[in-house]
Amino acid sequence: MHLNNDKEIVKIEQSRARLSELLKQKYPERKPVCYLHSYGCQQNVSDGEKLKGMLSEAGYDFCDTAENADLIILNTCAVRENAEDKIYGIIGEYKHLKNNNPELIIGICGCMAQESKTAERIKSTYKQVELVFGTFAYKQLFDMLYEVISNRRLVINQSEDDGNIIEGLSAVRTSSFSASVSVMYGCNNFCSYCIVPYVRGRERSRTPDAVYDEVSGLIKSGYKEIMLLGQNVNSYSYGFPQLLRKLNSIDGDFIIRFMSSHPKDASHELIDAIVECEKVAKCLHLPVQCGCNRILKEMNRRYTVEDYLEIVSYARSRITDFSFSTDIIVGFPGETYDEFCQTKELIKNVGYDNIFSFVYSKRSGTKAALMQDNISEKQKGLWLRELLMEQRETSQKLLSRFVGKTVRVLIDSDVSGKEGYVCGKNSEGIIVELMGSSELIGSFAQVKVIKAMNWALLGEIVI
Ligand code: SAH
Ligand code: SF4
Ligand code: F3S
Repeated sequence: MHLNNDKEIVKIEQSRARLSELLKQKYPERKPVCYLHSYGCQQNVSDGEKLKGMLSEAGYDFCDTAENADLIILNTCAVRENAEDKIYGIIGEYKHLKNNNPELIIGICGCMAQESKTAERIKSTYKQVELVFGTFAYKQLFDMLYEVISNRRLVINQSEDDGNIIEGLSAVRTSSFSASVSVMYGCNNFCSYCIVPYVRGRERSRTPDAVYDEVSGLIKSGYKEIMLLGQNVNSYSYGFPQLLRKLNSIDGDFIIRFMSSHPKDASHELIDAIVECEKVAKCLHLPVQCGCNRILKEMNRRYTVEDYLEIVSYARSRITDFSFSTDIIVGFPGETYDEFCQTKELIKNVGYDNIFSFVYSKRSGTKAALMQDNISEKQKGLWLRELLMEQRETSQKLLSRFVGKTVRVLIDSDVSGKEGYVCGKNSEGIIVELMGSSELIGSFAQVKVIKAMNWALLGEIVI
């Protein structure tokens, strides 16, 4: 396996050298500039950082707006229809950039670019786009760009290769203190509403040693927060609880988070590892999707509300304040108002610190797309509002449990519109604001919570 990796790396390096040469000829006076923007989940954002790493090695610089770029790459998400509509809107707007600068290359990649219907639509309607490549093709990035620059023709790459993970490509990371690290790629679960298994392929896990080496390197270079990523880390081939314990043994002051965790195989062993590893945040993002067993079955989630509540109560038997967050889909085909109310009931029972809720979006090619759907979008929108109101009440009550306590916060930014205030997240992932200067960004602080606001906590630094 490692031999394969080495061979592939040599091939990629040859392609990089060829592209670098071409870029030097084309831009003899300056470096070409790329605008790369990632949409969707953290996995996609992390892929975007890797693509940037490759582009930087080929000789590109980066900019924050599309206007003056030589290369625009939109790293897209396909999870809901509105995510796709947004991308088509943006590509439409870029037409005038291409008209003003015919040398400009516009490309799209990521999940939406893996769907064949996207390639068709780009070919027929969006002639300004010259590069479309899916989630498997990043290894061929240099060759694809070489082809577009030298032949000026539309390059489409939606191949699904063996999915071999290439180790050793470096990323250009956005943050200097918080880093995402993929532990696995793809998904085998085929929840009936979800496009991800179709655009990301089957599950592939990185070895524990590869993950360990990357995380140790990040900690040595000063990173304070490690977010481990996978569509379902519980099916990590080499055992996720064991991986957490291995990473917890790395020396240094840092916090480990991870997402996502599928409830069907969230085990007591996982909870034990979270509880026992001092560097792992005491919280779990456990997407429940809905609170009704009939709908869960239709969604092909393979757990019941009772199974789910068992994990919650086990975690809380070990740590009273164990924090949960979740994802909810409102208005799955055939869902009735009574069934929706069971979801409201569940979120009240669990007491989530955070929920991410979405109106169901039909994805063609999935099982649910063939199901009868009688509820109007307007109705679904009203249900979503109802759910959010329920959650607001619950979370406000929950936040007050921190008042008077001292919590550890990794400060990550200034508070916009509040001069002299910075904020960050505590172990449970809750935002804490405090008075302090920007110099604190990127470091941990002990903060005494003095007040629970609507959606965040207010505190002061304890020396
Ligand atoms: N693998 C992760 C989820 C990735 S997608 C997991 O299973 O936890 C993130 C969230 O988007 C899902 O949890 C789900 O709530 C939502 N989602 C996925 N497909 C959707 C669809 N077709 N319509 C609306 N929301 C969807
Ligand atoms: Fe989609 Fe289900 Fe896989 Fe999550 S586990 S990515 S919701 S199919
Ligand atoms: Fe993520 Fe969207 Fe793809 S949620 S995996 S970027 S479809």
